[in-house]
Amino acid sequence: MHFQWLTNVSVFLCILGVAQLVAAGKPNDLFTRITPGDVEVCGKDTGVDRKDFEEAREKGALNHSMLCFLKCAMEKAGFLKDGHLEIDQAKEASPDKMTEPVVECFKAVGPISTCDDIQKVENCLPGS
Ligand SMILES: *[C@@H]1O[C@H](CO)[C@@H](O)[C@H](O)[C@H]1NC(C)=O
Repeated sequence: MHFQWLTNVSVFLCILGVAQLVAAGKPNDLFTRITPGDVEVCGKDTGVDRKDFEEAREKGALNHSMLCFLKCAMEKAGFLKDGHLEIDQAKEASPDKMTEPVVECFKAVGPISTCDDIQKVENCLPGS
């Protein structure tokens, strides 16, 4: 599966179930910082439907809209700023998942300007 670095505890599902996530207060989830309002705004901006996203995520086949959704969510969470991955922020939020190989790969990703650039981030993840 793609996104294993995040999905040990189904973080991407958690993006969509952020209310529960925040309520549960899991300290080591990368997306704990995304608020339900952010999810709503990103979903609206990108036209991504929660159910479609979940299905595509299972198949590891996120399309352009869904990559835009992730880009939006990452920006809201502070993991992506001015086109650069905020690796320290991600490490702080999720030290377990930010292993050395992932960090090195993230560093090599380069500037992120388009939604499709998020695919490069995905490609850094173990098992992808
Ligand atoms: C992505 O997939 C969803 C669900 O199948 C679809 O509604 C949407 O139009 C697709 N977007 C693109 C850009 O292909």
